Amino acid sequence: MKNPTLMIASLLAFYSLFSFAMAANKERTFIMVKPDGVQRGLVGKIIERFEQKGFKLVAMKFVWAQKDLLEKHYADLSSRPFFPGLVNYMNSGPVVPMVWEGLNVVKTGRQMLGATNPADSLPGTIRGDFCIQVGRNIIHGSDAVESAEKEIALWFNEKELVSWAPAAKDWIYE
Ligand code: RTP
Ligand code: MG
Repeated sequence: MKNPTLMIASLLAFYSLFSFAMAANKERTFIMVKPDGVQRGLVGKIIERFEQKGFKLVAMKFVWAQKDLLEKHYADLSSRPFFPGLVNYMNSGPVVPMVWEGLNVVKTGRQMLGATNPADSLPGTIRGDFCIQVGRNIIHGSDAVESAEKEIALWFNEKELVSWAPAAKDWIYE
């Protein structure tokens, strides 16, 4: 390639494609084991699903969440008749909020959770395998990239989001 302008343009195009792919791999979602998942000893099994898929854990904590935080978390559902029961359920014991990162993690995470009502969740999904009723569906997952960003900011501060590179990353992404 003798034309320097063409060479620079090609390099820039390659760099933008590379950055775009890298940014896509850094999509984040907010996943939370609900109080029934904790009480039933399913935290390890749920974490294992995300680890074995190849997603990267970025943050995690163990907290008994206050009602005002839970009301903010589920604010979009505040007009629904089940809202007070939902907040009481989420406040009935400790939860395990987490941030997971990876390519399409929001959408894939929702698929891994299964349908909201475990009666409709397919076998092989977390809800399909571990629970029976909608009011005890053991796990939360963000439904869009924008809601994931809001939920992550609600539950974690910047310093709690750990920057690290898993040793296996080149065996998970080509
Ligand atoms: P989540 O936010 O917890 O991941 O659940 P989701 O997106 O699959 O479903 P969403 O509509 O956001 O509902 C949030 C949670 O509220 C409880 N729920 N109860 N009794 C009912 O009809 C009913 N509908 C929803 C569930 O715990 C659901 O996960
Ligand atoms: Mg939801």
